[in-house]
Order: sequence, then C-alpha cells, then structure tokens
Amino acid sequence: MAAAADPRLIVPLDVRTTGEARVLVAALGDTVSFYKVGLELFATDGMALARELKAGGKQVFLDWKLHDIGATVQRSAAALAGAGCDLLTVHGEPQVMAAAVKGRAGSALKILAVTVLTSLTDEDLAQMGYAFGAKALVERRIRQAVDAGCDGIVASPHEAALARAIGGPDFLVVTPGVRPDWSAKNDQARAATPLEALTAGASHIVCGRPITAAEDPRAAALKVIAEMAGG
Ligand code: C5P
Repeated sequence: MAAAADPRLIVPLDVRTTGEARVLVAALGDTVSFYKVGLELFATDGMALARELKAGGKQVFLDWKLHDIGATVQRSAAALAGAGCDLLTVHGEPQVMAAAVKGRAGSALKILAVTVLTSLTDEDLAQMGYAFGAKALVERRIRQAVDAGCDGIVASPHEAALARAIGGPDFLVVTPGVRPDWSAKNDQARAATPLEALTAGASHIVCGRPITAAEDPRAAALKVIAEMAGG
C-alpha cells in the first residue's frame, strides 16, 4: 500500500556520504517527499544527489547558509535555482538576503533566512559587537527577512509563533529541534513535538535522528506523520 508522505516533513540527510544518503532515501521510499541536503554532503557531490532527488520527484532543501558579498550570493542563488531545488538557506543579513532574492528571481527556488545561529549566546553576540541579545536580534532579522522579500526563515519551535505573527500566513517557518515524545532528545535541548511545532506556527518541521537513526526508519517516519496529523 502506498504511504502518504506529509510534505510538511523534511528529513535531513545528515550522513557522511551520498551513498549512505541514497540507502536512507531508498529505505524511506514513499513515506518522505522532502529532504534537506546539508554542508556535509556538499563535499561529496551533494549537488548530484540533489538533482537525483529532484528527478525522483522529491523536494530538496539546500541548507548551505550562504554568506558572502551580494554579487556572489546573487550568482550562487541563480545557479542553485537553475538546478531546480526548492529551498535554500542564507544568513539573515539584509545585503545577503536581498542578493539571494534577486538571484532566484523567476524561479521556483524559495529563500529561507537563518536569523541567528542557535549555537550563539548573548555573550557571543556581545563579543562580536552586536548591540542586541539573541532574542531581540531574531525578531529584528525576521522583520528584515520579510522586508528583503525572503519566503521564510529557519526558526526553533519556540520562535515559530513570533515568525508566523510577523511573516503572515504564507511565510515559511521551518523548524528543526523537533522530537516526538518517544524518541531520544540527542543534542536538541529545547525540543518540541511535531504537533507542538506545527501548532505554534511552523509550516515545515525538520526531523532527523528520530527517523534516520531508527531501526526501521520507514515505520518511524509513518509514526511522525501520524503525530503531525494530530493522531
Ligand atoms: O537529527 P535532528 O532532528 O536533530 O536534525 C536536525 C537538523 O536540523 C540537522 O540537520 C541540524 O543541522 C539542523 N539544525 C538544527 N538546529 C538549528 C539549525 C539547524 O538542528 N538551529
């Protein structure tokens, strides 16, 4: 029986090689329709994998967090748009966001801003010369992402409601840090369940190890999908 993938579920391919990623994608089959390809796979032919996934009818999120001068970001976004990918992350600085939006013009590629890396503390930001703490900077950058014409942001489930309120109903709010009650928290200290994240305003959830490290990834994906539906 064909399983119904939930297009709001994004599974990150956080593995060492594209070969391992292909094994995982084959195991998940029709339960997952959206994959995130991160920087780890960039070095081992991640773009070839992205094209393959697209050819196989999947959606692809390139989590490459571009951060460079405007001209370079613009050309990079244009090149990635040409590859037919669906989502691309860039750092949430106004020049970078505006350049990415310009680069993807006329394509289906959507630009997501990474507001503030969750690894940065208020102390780190002060040391880097920022006048804002993390919470205030996140809010400021969500507003700047909207102004720059970004399609959405990456946010923790705890920032999802704020992002939804600022961005409006069509804004993409993509939340990692999602853990079903039955799974290990790993290093996600402030995790929310799939349904909590969606209820808070997430349009998509990124859920990795509860699925990818499960003995039966397909069964785990189906369990997460059932939870997303509130069941
Ligand atoms: O396995 P897990 O569900 O923790 O994977 C979450 C994914 O989301 C990883 O690819 C991780 O790099 C990414 N991510 C995150 N927290 C952020 C930003 C991205 O966990 N703040």
